[in-house]
Amino acid sequence: MVAMKKATTTQFDREGLVQQAVAARDLAYAPYSGYKVGAALLGESGRIYSGCNVENALYPLTTCAERTVVVKAVSEGEREFIALAVVTENGGSPCGSCRQTLREFGEDIVVLIADFTGSYRETTIAELLPDSFSALDLA
Ligand code: THU
Repeated sequence: MVAMKKATTTQFDREGLVQQAVAARDLAYAPYSGYKVGAALLGESGRIYSGCNVENALYPLTTCAERTVVVKAVSEGEREFIALAVVTENGGSPCGSCRQTLREFGEDIVVLIADFTGSYRETTIAELLPDSFSALDLA
């Protein structure tokens, strides 16, 4: 019997995670901006969650793909994350609100920022949001 290898921040299927985000992007609801975003989030459990941006006619109510996927995962009991892949048409970077939302669950989360072809660059939450505010600041 082959034992399943637990995913770690150094060892997981990066291309597979990006491909799940590419697929999630197809489900984006972005009738106003036309800017479709897909995200895939790998939890410590090995489970992968996916999400997309969901816009609203009342524009500020829009939910970004990254925040969609965090809410999906946490509401299903996952609280520790290895990596997030985010896919846009042009390899756009996660917005500040999404960086802070992800930071709540750790600074070491790997972030793969990809375009629609699956080409990506790799960074971390710590790099995207240095000197961040967190629970540690709440004495
Ligand atoms: N968007 C995301 O889904 N994630 C980001 O990090 C940046 C922006 C979405 C929100 C909106 O639906 C569209 O992209 C244009 O801002």
